Amino acid sequence: MAQKILVNGGTGYIGSHTVVELINEGFETFIIDNLSNSSADVIEQIEKITGTKPGFEVFDLTDLHKLGLFFEENPGIDAIIHFAASKAVGESVEKPLLYYRNNLVSLMNLIECQLKFDVPNIVFSSSCTVYGQPDKLPVTETTPRKDAESPYANTKRMNEDILKDSIHAYPQLKGIALRYFNPIGAHPSALIGELPLGVPQNLVPFITQAAAGLRGELKVFGDDYNTSDGSAVRDYINVVDLAKAHVVAINRLLNKKNKENFEVFNLGTGNGYSVLEIVKGFEKATGVKLNYKIVDRRAGDIEKIWADTTYANEELGWKAETGLEETLLSAWNWEKKVRGI
Ligand code: UD1
Repeated sequence: MAQKILVNGGTGYIGSHTVVELINEGFETFIIDNLSNSSADVIEQIEKITGTKPGFEVFDLTDLHKLGLFFEENPGIDAIIHFAASKAVGESVEKPLLYYRNNLVSLMNLIECQLKFDVPNIVFSSSCTVYGQPDKLPVTETTPRKDAESPYANTKRMNEDILKDSIHAYPQLKGIALRYFNPIGAHPSALIGELPLGVPQNLVPFITQAAAGLRGELKVFGDDYNTSDGSAVRDYINVVDLAKAHVVAINRLLNKKNKENFEVFNLGTGNGYSVLEIVKGFEKATGVKLNYKIVDRRAGDIEKIWADTTYANEELGWKAETGLEETLLSAWNWEKKVRGI
């Protein structure tokens, strides 16, 4: 019988790609999502790609009562992947209570239900944001975390600690925190991808929307960083590669291959690219010219970060495989499909 995986936030950007990979690997999937930043249409797109419709319920994980009912009505869940969270850095500065409530209460409710309904395994979506601007690059999993620069970043850091402390207190629990670098791109089918509400805050969605004629010129935030061309450097990872790492993490827990009850992995490519390199890479991959101008640095941005992927490569046997241009092209193909171009 197929093992059952609950995917919280499964209609979202990374969640939807992960559900596809889980179904492809023979898992039965259930999605809980409050649709605060995604659409129920994603379920049909997942079915188009995989031929299988995931289970789907719409409610908010801060509602402990509803979550308890879900576990009562759906016995035998083997593991959980917890994506569901608010994720806009700027908004979190303006609405800290919303962020702390959504992101922390959801995870705490979930852990309570894990204990009550005997669901031992959890994979948690963390972020490289927990490293702040590291003193040494690339960052390994043992690079010290820095004080968070935003409430959003703080929720990632605090949730790592909530999970770690809970796993320490309740040895029946096992968890893996995956620290994502910058996920970009879309499924090669162009049936699922990133669909931000309003003006995109992240680089690649802004680029694809600008290329589609929905936005004015791209603002490149800063050209006076200490990098090769002065623009800031990140480690951009293909979202399907990232999704596949979740399947590996789930199998590690289900097959009891984990070395500690709580483990942390960096998920990046190991390569840093500057904003201007992304702009040029997009133009080269798609043949579409971008209008951009250099403006001041964005508040809260760090100068540069990229992952040391050795631990994930060796321990998980996982590696990011898709090249940057192919990934940028997939993002553009998705944007074109969405806009009917
Ligand atoms: C941020 C968060 C990260 C989170 C991610 C997704 C921090 C430090 N990082 O990543 O944890 O997972 O958002 O929400 O909190 N840029 C431009 N012009 C634009 C947009 C972006 O030049 O219009 C530049 C930024 O200054 C940055 C790079 O592009 O140098 C990437 O920015 P972005 O895509 O927003 O991601 P991060 O800020 O790295």
